[in-house]
Amino acid sequence: MFSKKVYDLVEKMTLDEKLDMLGGVNGFYTKANERLGIPSLRMSDASVGIHASGDSRPMECIAYPASLTLAATWNIELAREVGSSLGKDARSFGIQVLLGPGVNLYRAPMCGRNAEYMGEDPFLAGLMAAAFIQGIQEQGVAATVKHLTANNSEYDRYFSSSDIEERALREVYLRPFEMAVKYGKVAAVMTSYNRVNGVYSSHSEFLLREILKDEWGFDGVVMSDWWAVHDGMGAAKAGLDLEMPRAKYMNPEFLKEKIEKGELDTCVIDDKVCRILNLYKRFGFLDQKNLKPDKTIDVKQHRKTALAVAREGFVLLKNDNLLPIDDKRVKSIAVMGPNSHPAVTGCGGSSFVVPERAISVLEGIRAVAGENIAITWNDKLRYKDGKIEDVFSFEDKRSYLERACEVAKNNDLVVLCVGYNDGAVYEGEGRDRVYHLHEQCSNLIKVVSEVNSNLIVMLMAGGNADMNNWQNKARAILHLWYPGQEGGLAAAEILFGKTNPSGKLPVTIERRWEDSPAFDSYHDPELRHHVEYKEGIFIGYRHYDKNKIEPLYPFGFGLSYTSFLYAKLSVDKIRDDTFEVVFDLTNTGDMNGAEVVQLYIQDSNRTVLKPEKELMGFKKVYLSTGETKTVTLNFSRKSLEYFDVNSRKWEFHKGHYKIMIGASSRDIRLEQSIEL
Ligand code: BGC
Repeated sequence: MFSKKVYDLVEKMTLDEKLDMLGGVNGFYTKANERLGIPSLRMSDASVGIHASGDSRPMECIAYPASLTLAATWNIELAREVGSSLGKDARSFGIQVLLGPGVNLYRAPMCGRNAEYMGEDPFLAGLMAAAFIQGIQEQGVAATVKHLTANNSEYDRYFSSSDIEERALREVYLRPFEMAVKYGKVAAVMTSYNRVNGVYSSHSEFLLREILKDEWGFDGVVMSDWWAVHDGMGAAKAGLDLEMPRAKYMNPEFLKEKIEKGELDTCVIDDKVCRILNLYKRFGFLDQKNLKPDKTIDVKQHRKTALAVAREGFVLLKNDNLLPIDDKRVKSIAVMGPNSHPAVTGCGGSSFVVPERAISVLEGIRAVAGENIAITWNDKLRYKDGKIEDVFSFEDKRSYLERACEVAKNNDLVVLCVGYNDGAVYEGEGRDRVYHLHEQCSNLIKVVSEVNSNLIVMLMAGGNADMNNWQNKARAILHLWYPGQEGGLAAAEILFGKTNPSGKLPVTIERRWEDSPAFDSYHDPELRHHVEYKEGIFIGYRHYDKNKIEPLYPFGFGLSYTSFLYAKLSVDKIRDDTFEVVFDLTNTGDMNGAEVVQLYIQDSNRTVLKPEKELMGFKKVYLSTGETKTVTLNFSRKSLEYFDVNSRKWEFHKGHYKIMIGASSRDIRLEQSIEL
């Protein structure tokens, strides 16, 4: 399985040397072996830029938009490009292992780390992550897919057990990891903090040995999340290769004693060391010259990549004939809200990045609006102990809301930026946030909408923020997720029609929390440390379809300034297992634009429980006005298999299948039934 060079090195190692390699050092490094010329590798977080891991001074670097924003682009090539830029950024800091991407699925809007992940659908998350990983690894940097698995909330994350029936575990929560392994050829997998069906994932023989290594043939390194090991023997036997940030449990003293007592076989240790050294070998890390920081990155190009993700990932949810702004009629714009300026680029926690520059929405609007439009900023909301400081400034004794209303009244249009990480409410690693927008923000939307109906709300959040409560007060809503350092510019370009929005929702926006598939099984308020995933395989849109619940904004939805016509669907078998879906797409509006076309498939006469439809393909298609392109999407019979819990095998159900092409999960434009 490994190369001769790897086996030769392992052969030369003493048992002590081997055991020494199984734990990290100094927070973010692997251990070196000077005698054998094995260097120490530097790791860093991860998906949106280089985090200041292990450094005392913050590193400034490119802050890309959140992974959720990237998922909302549905642009596989762009995911690869971001990965590639990040890989280069990592190399410029002398970092060899990136601790991303994260592919834990979105069950509920409150999960603090949703923005670090890629939405609710395993196929979308898996494909985007695989391309992202390829991009990183093509630059000679190892990627780490995390957190295996079902780390879907931050609340009680060190103790909670995600209790999931095997079928849902395999078809839903493990699938993006499987795609990262099989298509992305990811170098490393990080376990999660939580337990899965009662067993900590770092000690789960079922997850690590049986599924990841044996079934999927993963030959890379399984590392723990930081301090996520609780039992040395459990981890060693289950298939954990590297304990991070140091070998607290899987340490040489402990393991040696177990080996001497005959309780642990040395071949288990050899396998771990082989995997670690294989990663070195694969990326050329045994060669010192490949470890040196490469200072040649093209910052301008990387900024462009960050901008491209923001342009394509922001989702226009509502547009009541207000956008794009008509600069012949609009002469003044008020910009306000806590997220308008200074820029909020991303989330807190280990993914936090200190941006090398950051363009706020206010700055973006000033740059794009031109000289003929007056821009007034109603200053940043100031918070003290989580509450608005009521006095606007020393000279001006009015309250923030009074002043906001006055500014709103005196301008043609208002851009109001709300969300989290604004100084009042944190969103990020370590805790869950609330479902609602905080009161200060919802009050602001309410009072401003009463004095100026030309209200555009921009939302910065890792998902829904009880939009139903305020969405009818805004004439336009743009979801920015977390926009990265160039996001303010992209948002302004969308306002003025310089960019035609093309992002589509990677999550379902529920009308009310009670509608969510996780409503009665998200938190465990009694702290029994068990969360039963009652929805089973019906995550996200699968639940809304099954229960005939109308979401506020469905999965896959997003508005454009142009319109698209879908026509002439055909489905043909091109190989034994592979089918080709072909149709024509025409831009029928009067602006160039891009459409995300989505392939959903339904097993029409299913005999086992299955979703109404599942996403099986997608593509982002760019079309000039009036242009038609023929679009081709492929799917395989294999991808339609379900996991039979009785035979414990993947099975295919022969019968009628409906092939559906949609502009969202609730906007199917073409369909055809076939026999498979
Ligand atoms: C996070 C990981 C991260 C690690 C190292 C942990 O707290 O869960 O995602 O990679 O820290 O920073």
